[in-house]
Amino acid sequence: MKAKILRATVISAITLTLSASVLAHTGATGIIKERMDFFARSKDNLKAIKSHLGANDLKSVVPLAKEIKDWAIKMPEYFPKGSDGKPSEASPEIWLNFEAFKKSAIANRDAASKLMSAAAEGDKGETIKAFKATASTCKSCHKSFRLD
Ligand code: HEC
Repeated sequence: MKAKILRATVISAITLTLSASVLAHTGATGIIKERMDFFARSKDNLKAIKSHLGANDLKSVVPLAKEIKDWAIKMPEYFPKGSDGKPSEASPEIWLNFEAFKKSAIANRDAASKLMSAAAEGDKGETIKAFKATASTCKSCHKSFRLD
């Protein structure tokens, strides 16, 4: 009986320690953490796409570009009013001009969509062009809507 209680206490102590360290990683929780994870994934996808292009592997670009596109479509839903402030780097400008923010997400979606189709068609020149265009839609949104 006592051993059982002790074991339960130890287990919950471990669980607490684990979740505390996950939180300490960025300090972000809830929807802010979720969107940060999606953005980090987009960044990884761009990097991976670049190396696939270097290796002339256009086929592998397609699912990664699709992931970027799918996130761009959902992106505005992950920015409910009032979800700025530390540790988020979301600029209050987002909610002052939410239509422009949505347009910026649409530009990202459209660029990623072109990237997907150019890669699927096996057109290297167009794929490289679309890759650059996609990266520039990331940057332009950050310039207007992300604090640095
Ligand atoms: C429509 C606007 C918009 C677009 C498009 C956009 N971002 Fe962001 N991005 C943001 C905002 C706003 C944040 C800050 C989010 C926060 O901290 O709450 C952010 C944060 C990030 C972060 C930091 C995540 C973290 O862990 O703190 C990375 C990395 C990132 N974006 C990469 C990208 C890449 C790569 C693309 C393009 C494929 C992209 N973003 C497209 C607005 C955008």
